[in-house]
Amino acid sequence: MSTPIDAQRMEKIVSLCKRRGFIFQSSEIYGGLNGLWDYGPLGVELKRNLKNYWWRIMVHERDDVVGMDGSILMNRAVWKASGHEDTFSDPMIDCRSCKSRLRADQLIDKGKGKQCPNCGGKDLTEARAFNLMFKTYVGATEDESSITYLRPETAQAIFVQFKNILEISRKKLPFGIAQIGKAFRNEINPRNFTFRSREFEQMELEYFCPAEQGMELFEYWKEERLKFYENIGIPRQKLNVLTVPDEDRAFYSKGTYDIEYDFPFGRQELEGVAYRTDYDLSQHQKASGKSLEYFDEQTKQKFIPHVVEPSAGVDRTVLALICEAYTEDEAPDEKGKLEVRTVLRFHPRMAPIKCAIFPLLKNNAPLVAKAKEIIDLLRPHMHAFYDESGAIGRRYRRQDEVGTPFCVTVDFETLGERDAALLDTVTLRDRDSMKQQRLKISDLREHLLTQIS
Ligand code: GAP
Repeated sequence: MSTPIDAQRMEKIVSLCKRRGFIFQSSEIYGGLNGLWDYGPLGVELKRNLKNYWWRIMVHERDDVVGMDGSILMNRAVWKASGHEDTFSDPMIDCRSCKSRLRADQLIDKGKGKQCPNCGGKDLTEARAFNLMFKTYVGATEDESSITYLRPETAQAIFVQFKNILEISRKKLPFGIAQIGKAFRNEINPRNFTFRSREFEQMELEYFCPAEQGMELFEYWKEERLKFYENIGIPRQKLNVLTVPDEDRAFYSKGTYDIEYDFPFGRQELEGVAYRTDYDLSQHQKASGKSLEYFDEQTKQKFIPHVVEPSAGVDRTVLALICEAYTEDEAPDEKGKLEVRTVLRFHPRMAPIKCAIFPLLKNNAPLVAKAKEIIDLLRPHMHAFYDESGAIGRRYRRQDEVGTPFCVTVDFETLGERDAALLDTVTLRDRDSMKQQRLKISDLREHLLTQIS
């Protein structure tokens, strides 16, 4: 069962994202632009941690996957062959009463016929297909011959480069090509914060195989992807695997799973795992006239490989990480009185800042010097943050709110002023338990690295 919709929780999350510099509205000082977002200093770190971990798991830790980085603009022929130019559209409906432009699936039906979700009006136009690709022109003339589109998915660059990569990598089937990059869709109705945006990033793997292995690999990749989400801090019980029914699948697909997450605004797709058969390579082979076949040296046969595609959204996963991490609990203030504490309980692997370093007092030169020595020691290995302003309790709260898993305080014990045995030790405070332990500075780097890697 999915968790109930919690609009208030979502409002708090959106407000925190802006207040602490995770996500801002794009072009905000000009009134913004619908469906477009900018990531601030902490958002960009979170996003990078996610992309780097995906790349590590999907490319670096495997023998059978290589990466690529394709261009966003491609020859228009790619989009004709892939079917996007003719069919990549959503059914659009206009409400004649309030002039809203809606996707057909956004209409509500309370048993008395379809209604506009904004004004309740029933004076609606017929649905018509609206192509989601952004059209543009390449070169100095704006005519039919210079039209192309901003890519609506990263996958096509992989199919189009399949032969080149096969040849240079000398891979045998099954093997995959991975890519992370921007995609653009002129969504009719962007909504739910960054969930449905007009510009977003995808992390896609096209895993090529002989037809006989297709179904087995389809199951394999679903399981691998579920493990991935658990390893970044999204528990299995918050994920749902939807088997997309035959009638909702692309005609060429032999199976699609949607991996869904229970967002505060409802259960929604994070990633699709699709068995796309040999459709894409066949289309490009037909349209380009270039062979995209694989030669099997053992059987001496040539064939077009099949493909299983796990395709994840970076922005949706970042949003899921923030929603999952957002917690309110209670902690004592400076005077011991319990107050509400807002904490982002990110997995340390995903946290934007891994460790914050505080000198107990900012006007004590030896404490400040030692704290700066520690941050210099950590910086080449992780994103660390120095803060000397305000009471220690306040500094902890600021870090809790942005999800920093560890805080290090340099105090008079560190300088060996109270007890010689504690010279060059610091307190290490854990975000979730708020417990503190004493640790040698010389052990700090290793201790943190084992938790964040
Ligand atoms: N190559 C296959 C493909 O693009 P998709 O289901 O259309 O499949 C894959 O997109 C993933 O990209 C989605 O599961 C989602 O995470 C992300 N995505 C798609 N449209 C998006 C949008 N408008 N805003 C944010 N993310 C989006």
